Amino acid sequence: MLIAPSMLSSDFSKLGEETIRMERAGADWIHLDVMDAHFVPNLTFGAPIVGAIRRYTKLPFDVHLMISEPLRYVDDFLKAGADIISFHLEAESSVHETLRAIREGGAKPAVAIKPKTPVEAVLPFLDELDMVLVMTVEPGFGGQSFMEPMMDKVRSLKSRGVFVEVDGGINPQTAVLAKQAGVDACVAGTSVFHAPDAAKAIASLREGNGVVL
Ligand code: DX5
Ligand code: ZN
Repeated sequence: MLIAPSMLSSDFSKLGEETIRMERAGADWIHLDVMDAHFVPNLTFGAPIVGAIRRYTKLPFDVHLMISEPLRYVDDFLKAGADIISFHLEAESSVHETLRAIREGGAKPAVAIKPKTPVEAVLPFLDELDMVLVMTVEPGFGGQSFMEPMMDKVRSLKSRGVFVEVDGGINPQTAVLAKQAGVDACVAGTSVFHAPDAAKAIASLREGNGVVL
């Protein structure tokens, strides 16, 4: 599995250094959680911050938009250097238009679904997207518990050949469940940034065998 450390759990006063630390620890992607205090009850950062840390690594930037009007801000995140842009199916923008804007801007488009959204809701868009982000916690905050029933969504998407990322509550134990369900990429905040050794934490998640090195 690919591992995408979530900068939400990093030291925000040292975003550049924290990004370098994750690259050295073996991260595959850098996951950036953008929240607008409207779509979710939390506020993080926007495109200027993403652009500011872009020069610290060449790793793909996996930008997760938890904002009400993603289409309005797609260009800003493309200019900031996003490689993959996930936005929520439950947001207000047209899904078709937003997917198209991301792809035309040269990034990979992805749709994210909240825990209460059935997997069927995303099926009409599979031909237009490169990834589905299955939330395994309610979006908004790090440090919550993994929702195992979401693995049914993962299995359903994998049976259709979709590239699947999961986000929320991933640790060495829950990574085993993700791997068994066929997940391609795991986001991990707390379990990587707060680990005594980030490289060992990432290696353990990637293996998905429950062994903490
Ligand atoms: C939650 C965010 C996640 C979060 C994951 O809304 O989308 O990316 O940072 O954090 P952990 O791994 O601590 O659950
Ligand atoms: Zn996220």
